[in-house]
Amino acid sequence: MEFSIKNGSPEKQRSACVVVGVFEPRKLSLDGEVIDQVSNHYLGDIIRRGDMDGKPGTTLLLHNVPNTLCDRVLLVGLGKEREFKDKEYRDAVRAAIKTLNETGSLEASIYLTELPVRRRDTAWKVEQTVLMAMEGVYRFDRLKSKQEEARRPLRRLVLNVPRRNELGIGEEAAKRGQAIAEGMNLAKDLGNLPGNICTPGYLAQQAQELAKTCKLKLEVLEQKDMEALKMGALLSVARGSRQPPKLIVLQYMGDKKKKPVVLVGKGVTFDAGGISLKPAGEMDEMKYDMSGAASVLGTFLAVAKLKLPINLVGIIPATENLPDGNANKPGDVVTSMSGQTIEVLNTDAEGRLILCDALTYAERFEPETVVDIATLTGACLIALGNHASGLFSNHDALARELLHAGEYTVDRAWHMPLWDDYQEQLKSNFADMANIGGRPAGSITAACFLSRFTKKYDWAHLDIAGTAWKSGKEKGSTGRPVPLLVHFLINKCRVG
Ligand code: BES
Ligand code: MN
Ligand code: ZN
Repeated sequence: MEFSIKNGSPEKQRSACVVVGVFEPRKLSLDGEVIDQVSNHYLGDIIRRGDMDGKPGTTLLLHNVPNTLCDRVLLVGLGKEREFKDKEYRDAVRAAIKTLNETGSLEASIYLTELPVRRRDTAWKVEQTVLMAMEGVYRFDRLKSKQEEARRPLRRLVLNVPRRNELGIGEEAAKRGQAIAEGMNLAKDLGNLPGNICTPGYLAQQAQELAKTCKLKLEVLEQKDMEALKMGALLSVARGSRQPPKLIVLQYMGDKKKKPVVLVGKGVTFDAGGISLKPAGEMDEMKYDMSGAASVLGTFLAVAKLKLPINLVGIIPATENLPDGNANKPGDVVTSMSGQTIEVLNTDAEGRLILCDALTYAERFEPETVVDIATLTGACLIALGNHASGLFSNHDALARELLHAGEYTVDRAWHMPLWDDYQEQLKSNFADMANIGGRPAGSITAACFLSRFTKKYDWAHLDIAGTAWKSGKEKGSTGRPVPLLVHFLINKCRVG
């Protein structure tokens, strides 16, 4: 999809469709007024007759509006003007894109960035519009034998900014939005692919392709390499699988002088639970258990497209978690790369087992910061639902940076406690620690487990169990938290 930024009058656009907003009850936005004036109150008449009352989420497509150069005008309901905030802005853009896409407009000229949104500037509005347009046209139908009936998706979008001196800002923001959206699409595609296609080997191949197109350094460690490194925790999870595990290590060097930021992504390509087998209902969704890995790959794609002046390392431990005669068993004690021993009381708590060795491996890059991203606990989904990722950190300033990036992109995270009081729950009678901490505070004890492997650097953990995919009728990967991660990295470039 193509985007461009303009600053021009709506009635003068030669376009398949011009999009303007209508507040509730029946009040045109400024650009709507402009069209109303030149068209002898064509829009006003329609609104007065009650065909469009401005209710949020509603749209009305008009043809042959007098004295305009466009084929159509799309009215979009904005809700009450006083209540118009960022959520309403996003809802309106989403509704507009949906209608454009369904009515076969190949291109459109959108006039919504003029709308004042509290604490959000033009750059934000442009970036969000691009993200939502890309989201609206995204389809995953490559596994259907017949593609959807001849779709004519939206191909070009012109975003009109209110002031001429904002053209540059708008262009930058559109570029940012597009890079992030492409990263999200990569993450979504990988997440949506089933476990029989997206295996650890497949993830490694995808990393290889990414490395080629984005000029990244790539190293894939095989099982024997992990054995040499004594990654006993990671290897214990892979025991029950016929697919060989991979440890994917990517490097982007936009500024060699800086210490790297390391992203670690959980890459369990299917999580059946192992011997502690999961119940059958919705088990298919455990193909998404590599969403952390996918978000790391998506972030690399966006960072490379934006040519950010940073040094970035990605570490992806990739494996399946299946039951088998060779699988690890409840009660097994394994030795992690750090030397700490772990009693595996539940083989379904496998994410922390593969992450702990990847986090120890991260030490060799002398990182400035390490952030891991993982669909780690069902408890996090119960605590925060689908709206926020759980954020845990051993460094408050780092937590604030991540929260801020999430707030900006509406890819939010919520700060959870990591107090030592919770560490007791991980006590084991037979090893240095157990891999589960009982029912209370499940996502916190999982983070506490990881914190025992991250003492040598500033570290944050994002539990994306609730945010990485949607269940139900709209089942599918969301591409989160790529927007949060990319903005976190962009902001790092700003401060130095
Ligand atoms: N991948 C799951 C976490 C998960 C569950 C994410 C449901 C999204 C939805 C993880 O490997 C897991 O199985 N965690 C267990 C931990 C428990 C055994 C301590 C869980 O959350 O039930
Ligand atoms: Mn599990
Ligand atoms: Zn898992």
